[in-house]
Amino acid sequence: MKGYKVAIVGATGMVGQEFIKVLEQRNFPIESIRLLASDRSAGKKLFFSHREIVVEETTPESFKNVDIALFSAGGDVSRYFSPIAAQSGAVVIDNSSAFRMDPKVPLVVPEINTEDIKKHNGIIANPNCSTIQMVVALYPLHKVNHIKRIVVTTFQSVSGTGKAAVDELTLQSKQILNGQAAVPHVYPHQIAFNVLPEIDVFMDNAYTKEEWKMVEETRKIMHSGNMAISATCVRVPVFIGHGESVNVEFSTAMSPDDARRILAQAPGVKLLDDPTISLYPQQWSAAGTDDVFVGRIRRDSSHDSGLVMWVVADNIRKGAALNAVQIAEVVINGGWLHTRGLK
Ligand SMILES: NC(=O)c1ccc[n+]([C@@H]2O[C@H](COP(=O)([O-])OP(=O)(O)OC[C@H]3O[C@@H](n4cnc5c(N)ncnc54)[C@H](OP(=O)(O)O)[C@@H]3O)[C@@H](O)[C@H]2O)c1
Repeated sequence: MKGYKVAIVGATGMVGQEFIKVLEQRNFPIESIRLLASDRSAGKKLFFSHREIVVEETTPESFKNVDIALFSAGGDVSRYFSPIAAQSGAVVIDNSSAFRMDPKVPLVVPEINTEDIKKHNGIIANPNCSTIQMVVALYPLHKVNHIKRIVVTTFQSVSGTGKAAVDELTLQSKQILNGQAAVPHVYPHQIAFNVLPEIDVFMDNAYTKEEWKMVEETRKIMHSGNMAISATCVRVPVFIGHGESVNVEFSTAMSPDDARRILAQAPGVKLLDDPTISLYPQQWSAAGTDDVFVGRIRRDSSHDSGLVMWVVADNIRKGAALNAVQIAEVVINGGWLHTRGLK
């Protein structure tokens, strides 16, 4: 099989490190790999498939002869370097929110809208982690019985903020258990032994940007511009894995058993739903796995056509690195690699 020249931008970060693991685990066809980060990490050594690779500073020249550039270094880096990479002939798969709502940029979850990739102009966006796991669970149900409204509350782990937040939860937990004060740096308040109903900045409509991403991105991925969606996004003191309480109103009634039957066959979904033995998805056991786990499926006691469920996934894998690598695989298998520069 042909190998591809791959670059990872943000290779030293939470998502970048997972990119390395996912590419190795899936035997992604690689001819060469460049590990890119900021000037702070230039010269640092990382391993890929037991080979030592020196991290390089990201510059406009970094993308010469690169086929696929996987970006996870934040919005500013993506906004600046992604067009340069695409212009150099690489297909960019971007984990930041920089291009997600750009009408010229496909926003893709491979279980749902691979066909959208065909229209790419060199940049393909990877959705927000909370959006990905929710749509993987809901789209199979939506195909059978159109969803009219979603109300979701998320319970998001600190790894979603990056390495600095993981360190902060570790340090604060130790400080508090030792009877010391925990001083917040990454979050506006203490995160250890606490939950914060604030993810990303507040907007004029009183929602946060993270909440609004779930609204807009879900509509774009599911091609459902009119779907009514309301989200409340909450940061919880968990290292890896996001949980979501999802309340769905369908066009007509759907029984929990029908939903279970559909989800048991759905790509990327694993049902864990037996309350008699306390079987339901949990964040700690989802960490390091690839599926979107669904459980606690029950009728919404407040609405005839409603269901409620609990959805969990590893935010760094399916919520970021894995989904992006799956997009890259679809690009290769579909013969959609060639950009010949940004159009
Ligand atoms: N964590 C998640 O669950 C998740 C999910 C979906 C999407 N994302 C998105 O993925 C991106 C990275 O997230 P993360 O959690 O991996 O963050 P992180 O752990 O803080 O890592 C950030 C990475 O970006 C690099 N970087 C920073 N400034 C740079 C620059 N000027 N030029 C080149 N590289 C630079 C850092 O390199 P240095 O080590 O050299 O500083 C590091 O490799 C963000 O856009 C985030 O929104 C994250």
